Amino acid sequence: MPLIEVALSGAVTDNQLLAVKANGASLLVTRIDGQVQAFINKCPHMGMPMAKGTVKDGVVTCPWHGAKFDVCTGQNVEWCNAFAGVPLPKWSHKLVAMGKDPKPLTVYETSEENGKVFVRVPG
Ligand code: FES
Repeated sequence: MPLIEVALSGAVTDNQLLAVKANGASLLVTRIDGQVQAFINKCPHMGMPMAKGTVKDGVVTCPWHGAKFDVCTGQNVEWCNAFAGVPLPKWSHKLVAMGKDPKPLTVYETSEENGKVFVRVPG
């Protein structure tokens, strides 16, 4: 898998999501504690885009139903618990999950060199 240049280093800032394309794939890049991280712009719950999600303490929250993922590992840390950003009561979480079990987010290896950010994506 080749490393593909996706952005200038200055465009990738802590806890902000930047949408980029690499090898035809839609990705999001951000910085966690200064380190560039990249993941697919497609929530594993319903395949919805996550560009309007939020990043805090290394965790990205999907803007649609609130699923949370560790940005560095992709691990699911909390499954669906909201609708369009509005928190829902616990009894409704299985309903909003629509029968889908928790899955991890696809993350990609990154590197940064000479002021440029690279992501290794399947080609
Ligand atoms: S599409 Fe992301 S939590 Fe449902």
